[in-house]
Amino acid sequence: MPAVQTITWEGALSGHARLIEQTLLPERTEYLDVRDVPGMVDAIYRLAVRGAPAIGVAAAYGAVLGIQNETGRSVPDLLRHLDEVCSTLAAARPTAVNLFWALERMKRHAAAVAGGCADGRALAEELLAEAQRVHAEDADQCRRMGEHGAELIRDGMTLLTHCNAGALATGGMGTALAPMYVAAEQGKKISVFADETRPLLQGARLTSWELNQAGIDVKVITDGMAGRVMFEGRVDAVFVGSDRIARNGDVCNKIGTYTVAVLAARHGVPFYVVAPVSTFDAATDSGDLIPIEERAAEEITNGFGRRTVPEGVGVYNPAFDVTPAELVTAIVTEHGLIERPNMAKVEALLRQAGAM
Ligand code: MRU
Repeated sequence: MPAVQTITWEGALSGHARLIEQTLLPERTEYLDVRDVPGMVDAIYRLAVRGAPAIGVAAAYGAVLGIQNETGRSVPDLLRHLDEVCSTLAAARPTAVNLFWALERMKRHAAAVAGGCADGRALAEELLAEAQRVHAEDADQCRRMGEHGAELIRDGMTLLTHCNAGALATGGMGTALAPMYVAAEQGKKISVFADETRPLLQGARLTSWELNQAGIDVKVITDGMAGRVMFEGRVDAVFVGSDRIARNGDVCNKIGTYTVAVLAARHGVPFYVVAPVSTFDAATDSGDLIPIEERAAEEITNGFGRRTVPEGVGVYNPAFDVTPAELVTAIVTEHGLIERPNMAKVEALLRQAGAM
């Protein structure tokens, strides 16, 4: 079990969110205290907190930060203010649907309990409790995904993962890394190739950091090496997370995931996606409709303190890509597996989970 807690709420209603400042890893482990909405938007945009489920938890706490000092307002006025706060938080990043899912959940809860709240303070207390439930449920879902996913892992396997979909990216033990942690708990000996994950190196900086701390054998490879290690027959299965899964089972994840999926298909390696129901977007029919975040050119031209592209040369920096459902062996959720996903199977799972 990883020891990392990527986000905590410190204190009572007047407290604040504390995040691991992920941009400094692995050189330094520092914490960032976030005390207001602009601070949370900035932390999400800069990737101080990142990974779809962790962004959802951060947004839920962000909503609390936005109302904690406004409890003198009437309940209807505070509800209107909450709407504005949620719109501000929703603009932080466009792709991970967990952000919007968490904010919708906070607003829905506020609307449901408002009638029973004597004043703004009572409503704010309700919202802190709801954010803490979002967080606790995420941790529980990670464990359940881990248990379902560990059944796919046999003793001695070597797995490949892309980006960071571990404890740093969630409120619990991770999505794609959760089956690895559970398999290790079960005494299975596993090895992991962590794709470096250009340009922000979530695999090299974060995945290797947390797997290494948990005592799981991990080797970092550059993104371009994934084909070679599969060609050499060194990979038994791929496990990745997701930022948004369309209704037809198309999977959006960190840029480079699609390349890994194509390579896995070419080499007959199973390609597993591990994601909670909160990552499914029933309102988006297929992956080509998912908004893909484009990030600053400097992440490519000046990554990590050194200019690596000549001045004046253009770059294109999409942060995510979409893997078509046909390349996905199975999606592992907290409710079990969707094998060979398609629209009918995704809809059936979402109905079973009460999410549709
Ligand atoms: O840009 P990031 O670092 O937030 O991207 C994160 C990913 O793509 C993860 O693989 C995804 O959110 C799944 S996290 C459990």
